[in-house]
Amino acid sequence: MHTTTALTAAVALVALAAVSAQDAHAAGGQGASLKNPVQATPVSIEAGQKIYARYCGACHGPKGQGGPSAEGLPPPSNLTDTRWDHGSTDGAIFTAIKSGIPPEYAMEPWGDRIKDPDIWNLVNFIRSLRK
Ligand code: HEC
Repeated sequence: MHTTTALTAAVALVALAAVSAQDAHAAGGQGASLKNPVQATPVSIEAGQKIYARYCGACHGPKGQGGPSAEGLPPPSNLTDTRWDHGSTDGAIFTAIKSGIPPEYAMEPWGDRIKDPDIWNLVNFIRSLRK
């Protein structure tokens, strides 16, 4: 009896989470309205570039042009074009890096390895690629 109730609640929660994730996606990516607290100064962009070279270039290419996909997974996005599949605001890009991209997580979450200010530096660096 108690088990059934807990199970029902768990299923309802999962369903709810799925619905809100979809809403966020439709609205242009999760975290779309987060404001970037780090100014895109040359210092910030350079810091982002270093982290990018260390963690990101292997998949997204040394210049952010994208790369080949692992079998059956979406390809690593081109980060230099105007196409943003997971939201185009600084906040959406920040969230894609910090939390990864569901459902496959071919883009894994980096929040456990890269601190928030450095993720914003990455956002500023990625933005600088298009100029
Ligand atoms: C193991 C390969 C891999 C690594 C390493 C990786 N990514 Fe990704 N990334 C991907 C893939 C694959 C996608 C597309 C995921 C999808 O569409 O489901 C993606 C998507 C993204 C997106 C969303 C682009 C869009 O069009 O909305 C951003 C931003 C991004 N990555 C930034 C980064 C940054 C910054 C790093 C380094 C901290 C990084 N990635 C490391 C594979 C990787």
